[in-house]
Amino acid sequence: TDRTPLMVGNWKLNLDHHQGIQLVQKLAWSLKDAEHDYEAVEVAVAPSFTSLRSVQTLIDADELGIKLSSQDISSHAKGAYTGEVSAEQLTALGVDFAIVGHSERRDYHGESDTIVGAKVAAAIAAGITPILCVGEKLEVRQAGEHVSLTLSQIDGALEGLSAEQVADVVVAYEPVWAIGTGEVATPEDAQEMAEAIRARVAETVDPDVAAGMRILYGGSVKADNVAAIMAKPDVDGALVGGASLVVEQFAAIAGFR
Ligand code: G3H
Repeated sequence: TDRTPLMVGNWKLNLDHHQGIQLVQKLAWSLKDAEHDYEAVEVAVAPSFTSLRSVQTLIDADELGIKLSSQDISSHAKGAYTGEVSAEQLTALGVDFAIVGHSERRDYHGESDTIVGAKVAAAIAAGITPILCVGEKLEVRQAGEHVSLTLSQIDGALEGLSAEQVADVVVAYEPVWAIGTGEVATPEDAQEMAEAIRARVAETVDPDVAAGMRILYGGSVKADNVAAIMAKPDVDGALVGGASLVVEQFAAIAGFR
């Protein structure tokens, strides 16, 4: 199965909408200079909710090939949920992807596998591709339980979804100990987990869906380590934090080949 590589820049809580516009503009120029083929390698940025509209307007006006992601999404469709942003609202803004269940959401905002699963379902129902984040903390890896923990997060988030729905999911494996630490997992670590996730989805959902599912790696991805990670057969892209704020870095990551 051909899986189109996907590079996602997660800006996290860093830029206001002026800065967001500047960054996406510079990124677009840089990718244009590099003659980036957006069909060969998809590129997406995930600004804060406050920047989605302005970044989307720029993407549209200049017909940029860059896609748009939110950093989170509500599991609720409508109603008395103060502060939440729904999948429908994001669809109306032309958002393509939503990062769901990032470890920072799980850790600092108490998101359980059940909540994450509801968010995955809400995104799919509205036509947004969820980027489902999973991955273990350092203690879990040290205890040798990283594969079972990560697969339990996959099971929890995909529970109750049909094969057709799971076909719309992108998974991002992000070992928590490698996020923002400069401590990148080895390409072998990334491959081990991506392969295990694909095998699990083949077993519990459907082999064809598993074969077509894009599995990204995230955690201290930089221009100088991305090629080795992408060389692994089950790794189909990267979810990039810090390096996505530096145009030269992220453009180089997008052109890893
Ligand atoms: O969503 C992105 C990940 O949390 C990775 O962040 O590239 O700064 O380590 P990082």
